[in-house]
Amino acid sequence: MRMYDIIKKKRDGGPLTGEEIRFFVDGYVKGDIPDYQASALLMAIFFNRLNRDETAVLTQAMADSGESIDLSSVKGIKVDKHSTGGVGDKTSLVLAPLVAAAGIPVAKMSGRGLGHTGGTIDKLESIPGFKAEMTKAGFIKSVNSIGVAIIGQTGDIAPADKKLYGLRDVTATVDDISLIASSIMSKKLAAGADCILLDVKVGKGAFMKSMDQARKLAEVMVEIGRAAHRETIAVISDMEQPLGFAVGNALEVKEAIETLKGEGPEDFDKLCRELGTLMLVLGGITRDTSEARAIVDDLIASGRALNKFREFVRNQGGDPEVADRPEEILPIAKDTVRIAADREGYISELRAEEIGICAMHLGAGRANKEDTIDPSVGIVMNRKVGDFVREGDSIATLYVNRKDNLDTVIDMFRSSIGISATPVSRIEIIKEIIR
Ligand code: URA
Repeated sequence: MRMYDIIKKKRDGGPLTGEEIRFFVDGYVKGDIPDYQASALLMAIFFNRLNRDETAVLTQAMADSGESIDLSSVKGIKVDKHSTGGVGDKTSLVLAPLVAAAGIPVAKMSGRGLGHTGGTIDKLESIPGFKAEMTKAGFIKSVNSIGVAIIGQTGDIAPADKKLYGLRDVTATVDDISLIASSIMSKKLAAGADCILLDVKVGKGAFMKSMDQARKLAEVMVEIGRAAHRETIAVISDMEQPLGFAVGNALEVKEAIETLKGEGPEDFDKLCRELGTLMLVLGGITRDTSEARAIVDDLIASGRALNKFREFVRNQGGDPEVADRPEEILPIAKDTVRIAADREGYISELRAEEIGICAMHLGAGRANKEDTIDPSVGIVMNRKVGDFVREGDSIATLYVNRKDNLDTVIDMFRSSIGISATPVSRIEIIKEIIR
């Protein structure tokens, strides 16, 4: 088999066989296939697409390119949850202890933030003492004893995806639905859970800008899950504006704790309860959605979800008192800057991507993988799209330490806000569920 023939076949619009796809993935990981040939194939795929069978094979080949986590020694049905990424997305911080409190084992690998999106591991590490590194044995032991552990993703998971993603990033071939779907699902398959819940974000702050694209991505990923015998559900949720109010690591931990107490922002609370309900259904706690929803509500109201959060934080070296005194325990920036409305009207836009980039420039995120982050800084929104403001009302508060770029960040933040003279509808957080 020759790489030249595979490129030519896809260039001319032909479907690749499973053997050809595996030849490419294996050869590229081993270094036998050079970047220039892999780039040519990616561009041919970008223009001529992969069909569903090709996408399923590519996903499995990338999943098989490295280590697979064996969770068979964890008792129960393991349900993984994945978000396609957004601004203010602290959902895993709530869902992991919430569903663990219902008896679903959570053995989760999460990533760090890059660009305008945050990462669960960075958020958790803002809790003093919290450690996201564990041996594999320690990881399994934690899940078996307290029901939940979250660790950083190891480099051995789907190395083919890692290498190909780096190449896609520099060859303008990231935003193809089958390539995104196979990239995400290869890591999910290798991470070993029995069922997968996907939170596909749609809107200005997401990869998928339109409902049409988000629906296609969700459908392809659900189909890949099914082909790999993992029950998979996708929820399409809004990412026009930041999720909840808080953007920035420690600020988001505090908001997650409030949500576990039932005191979170309306949109974030709704999303967590919906995703939690679906995780309980996938995990076989009950097949009845209303019953699952009642369990979720009770876990929050009774304090059991918050208790599980304390246990989880303590088990990974963090200070569990954070659940009771987040203001004292979490790092907090030295200064705040209030962003006020410059006129009366209805908030029409809070553009998530720009707001995420503002938070990154304050130090909450990374422009490059090597950058260090400041866990204490970020942004707390005081308004959401649809809210009415008078001139001078606070729209957001910036939590800042560095001042060298503050004027630029403030200008950028201001330009991410829209105010309309006529009423604006609120944005529904949950758009659609794809089973
Ligand atoms: N996230 C991934 O993991 N892969 C993609 O291709 C896009 C987003």
